[in-house]
Amino acid sequence: MVLLIKAILSLSVFIMKVGANPAATQSSVHSVSQCHDWGELGNGAVRVIEGEATWLPCPLFSHPNVYNYSSAQAAGLNLVWYHVASGQDLEQPIDFHHPDQRLSKERETLWLQPATMEDNGQYICMLRNRTSCAKIAVHLEVVQPKPNCEGKAAVPSTLVNVPIQGGKFLTCPDLDDVKLPNTSHSVTWYHNCDANAFMNADRKVEKDELRIRQMFEMYQGLYHCVVTYETKGRTLNFTRMINVSAVSSDGVPKEPRILNPAVDQIYPVKQGSEVNLTCRVMLPFTEGPRETWWTIDGKTVEQLADPRFSNTSRMVKVYFGDWTVEIVLKIKDFSSEDLRREYNCSARNRRGMATSRATLEEEAYLPSVELGCGLGITLFLMLVMFVVYHIFWLELLLLYRSWFGTDERSTDDKEYDIYISYARNSEEEQFVLLTLRRVLENELGYTVCIFDRDSLPGGTITDETLSFVGRSRRLLVVLSPGYGLEGTQALLELKAGLDSMAWGRHLRVILVQYKPLGRNGWVHELRRARVALVLVRWQGEKSSDLSSRFWKRLQVELPLRRVKDLIENKNSNTIPLQNKAIH
Ligand SMILES: *[C@@H]1O[C@H](CO)[C@@H](O)[C@H](O)[C@H]1NC(C)=O
Ligand SMILES: *[C@@H]1O[C@H](CO)[C@@H](O)[C@H](O)[C@H]1NC(C)=O
Ligand SMILES: *[C@@H]1O[C@H](CO)[C@@H](O)[C@H](O)[C@H]1NC(C)=O
Ligand SMILES: *[C@@H]1O[C@H](CO)[C@@H](O)[C@H](O)[C@H]1NC(C)=O
Ligand SMILES: *[C@@H]1O[C@H](CO)[C@@H](O)[C@H](O)[C@H]1NC(C)=O
Ligand SMILES: *[C@@H]1O[C@H](CO)[C@@H](O)[C@H](O)[C@H]1NC(C)=O
Ligand SMILES: *[C@@H]1O[C@H](CO)[C@@H](O)[C@H](O)[C@H]1NC(C)=O
Ligand SMILES: *[C@@H]1O[C@H](CO)[C@@H](O)[C@H](O)[C@H]1NC(C)=O
Repeated sequence: MVLLIKAILSLSVFIMKVGANPAATQSSVHSVSQCHDWGELGNGAVRVIEGEATWLPCPLFSHPNVYNYSSAQAAGLNLVWYHVASGQDLEQPIDFHHPDQRLSKERETLWLQPATMEDNGQYICMLRNRTSCAKIAVHLEVVQPKPNCEGKAAVPSTLVNVPIQGGKFLTCPDLDDVKLPNTSHSVTWYHNCDANAFMNADRKVEKDELRIRQMFEMYQGLYHCVVTYETKGRTLNFTRMINVSAVSSDGVPKEPRILNPAVDQIYPVKQGSEVNLTCRVMLPFTEGPRETWWTIDGKTVEQLADPRFSNTSRMVKVYFGDWTVEIVLKIKDFSSEDLRREYNCSARNRRGMATSRATLEEEAYLPSVELGCGLGITLFLMLVMFVVYHIFWLELLLLYRSWFGTDERSTDDKEYDIYISYARNSEEEQFVLLTLRRVLENELGYTVCIFDRDSLPGGTITDETLSFVGRSRRLLVVLSPGYGLEGTQALLELKAGLDSMAWGRHLRVILVQYKPLGRNGWVHELRRARVALVLVRWQGEKSSDLSSRFWKRLQVELPLRRVKDLIENKNSNTIPLQNKAIH
């Protein structure tokens, strides 16, 4: 009696485990009519394919320190089995003397050889003598076989990892644990439902076992074993499944490796904001647990118990059982104190452990907005200056010259500012005499030399031309189709000018184009010198105003005349000199 009460007390642990109905504990042990009920076995039903053999061990004896079958037998306790068919609540004693001998009892185990659909439901095993009683229920589910490979067995598959290139013996699950009737048995193996998969030497059936001598990726998948035996004149079988996975070879290093934090890696942090520290770990396959975790000053997030610290982990990759894991330590409201702490990421598997420390560095303050504005303004100003320069470059050049340019008159002893060379008896002659000369002399105040006007009669033309050109600072060549023809005065002037320029005698040749000129309009000498010379184009009406581009461009090329010179010049002149139309 005392023994039984003790037993019941110690069983309370077991009740929790099997998830029994709490009402069961209220049972009385004083009378046989009231039996101690442990409820139904908690961890699910036993499943079997219809037509296969199965067995149900009485779960009372799965805790031998409470119920021991041998001692129970010795104490004269009886084990009785009841069946409650599904959908009913009538407990029917099982008839072990039925002529078909399908159901039998072997010590604490109930055998169904084979199981049929009527066997569905609850099985209760009851241990009792005249004064004491205990019972427990277990559920049996008989299912129809499914045509697919996974449906060949009703019991969940067993996972087996085999290293690539390695070997392994596969044993049919339950075969060694169950005591088959004293007869011979055979085991048939299938890989993905194929019984003929074991033709080569890599995989071989040896006795009951399947031996994988050398593992390859293609040998992964679902293996079945069907155990066939005979009893009481019947052939019986049961099927089990093994899910085989290839894992990385035993030959490769198995120690955990921390990819981040790497040796030189720096984690930038910002005070007052959220900081994520990411740790990436390579955890090669080993049996047993594999872990990754962060420590802060040697404490895990749980030990630290600071709500600002949390971590999340995820599996980045699984490759032949090797894991790449990422664990992120999130720190809210990062403070300067946090900057001084030691952050270590660690990983462990059965073969070893690795730790790496994260180096934190405060991010330099980058005034991005201010910097952006500054850059924007600079760029804008540059753009404005670019545009201004392109529109007003002539004016700017003139202005610059008037401030910083040197007056050539003080550095040489030449007589004329400009010598105008042109084709005689041409349209351009009018332009030279009426417009060019007048503006240059009267309005801009240059001293102009025009051979036909300034030469003295009776002199040698050649000598005089050379002398005039030599005494001028600029040679203004007014281009026209007939300019520089063989033997003309103009050709002589041009040659003298180009020579003088080439010899560095303070003379520059400037081309003025009155009318657009075809390529053939260029005299041979000019064609060669063209690239080195400045060409100023007369634009018709547009150029007649003194403020037009033509005159400004010309002024840039001509010797410097300061504003005060002009004013003096104006005063000494009787013609009113405004910016008026010239033609
Ligand atoms: C059950 O009891 C018998 C004898 O009392 C003992 O030999 C046996 O080891 C016990 N079994 C278990 C599993 O404790
Ligand atoms: C019934 O079994 C209990 C527990 O083993 C034992 O204490 C009791 O003496 C047995 N009663 C009889 C009548 O054998
Ligand atoms: C099992 O059978 C063999 C012969 O087939 C026999 O020698 C042996 O005693 C038997 N064992 C049992 C427990 O019946
Ligand atoms: C298992 O037994 C059942 C019923 O006897 C039979 O139909 C089935 O073919 C057997 N399976 C194997 C693989 O022997
Ligand atoms: C076998 O195991 C792998 C993982 O190890 C799983 O992805 C696969 O679904 C399993 N196959 C079956 C049929 O259970
Ligand atoms: C930190 O990671 C979380 C997700 O885990 C994300 O929502 C958050 O934006 C990240 N913070 C920073 C500063 O990167
Ligand atoms: C953190 O890791 C470094 C090496 O990376 C190690 O020297 C240090 O002892 C570790 N600190 C703790 C608290 O584990
Ligand atoms: C945080 O890390 C611990 C190990 O330090 C781990 O047990 C826990 O599951 C992680 N939390 C999350 C959300 O991943």
